[in-house]
Amino acid sequence: MKKSIEPKPILSPQLVEMLATYNEDGSVNLMNAAWGGQLDTDLLVLSLDKSHRTVENILREKCFTLGLPKTKDIVDCDFVGIVSGNKDKDKFEKTDLHAYPSKVVHAPLIEEFPISFECEVFKIFDDEEVGFYVVAKVKNIVIDEEVIRERGRFDTEMLDLAFFCPLDNTYRKFGPKVADAFSCGLAKKK
Ligand SMILES: Cc1cc2nc3c(=O)[nH]c(=O)nc-3n(C[C@H](O)[C@H](O)[C@H](O)COP(=O)(O)O)c2cc1C
Repeated sequence: MKKSIEPKPILSPQLVEMLATYNEDGSVNLMNAAWGGQLDTDLLVLSLDKSHRTVENILREKCFTLGLPKTKDIVDCDFVGIVSGNKDKDKFEKTDLHAYPSKVVHAPLIEEFPISFECEVFKIFDDEEVGFYVVAKVKNIVIDEEVIRERGRFDTEMLDLAFFCPLDNTYRKFGPKVADAFSCGLAKKK
């Protein structure tokens, strides 16, 4: 039996995405953002609540970094996703994460994140009914060298990226490989 339910944001799983920006005084702010995605090879889109300190910082600096954390850092990632820099300006200092400046954009990179996108704001969509969206151009990607494999592939086990699962509000790990993409379907092609 199938059942109809109202629309819910349960397209799942989503990578945990961490937005790092500088506050006006140069201190670091970090927030958790699950509602983001890849629009094109070098374009990302983020759905953000305008009340966030991160949004204020992005609008002022016109840039940010988006880091993909490992599961081991999930407690810090959750913490900065439930406490706003507007309420606690030093929230980043309460984590065990370490920041260093990007050479490409005026935003911090987080040492512990194995992959980080260095991004510049490309377009802002601010619509009362639809919401607030930032489309960003990826200027560069900083990645831990040891996870790079042949033919542009990455070692997913070693990366151990954290996922957010909105189906049951949990964080999760990569599961086992099921099949090779763009090739397992070939068996059906006559
Ligand atoms: C798992 C998770 C996912 C989140 N995803 C988003 C998101 O996609 N967009 C958003 O605006 N806020 C999202 N948030 C909420 C912000 O991370 C949170 O409000 C944070 O405190 C904002 O920090 P700031 O005000 O310092 O920028 C998420 C929080 C969690 C825990």
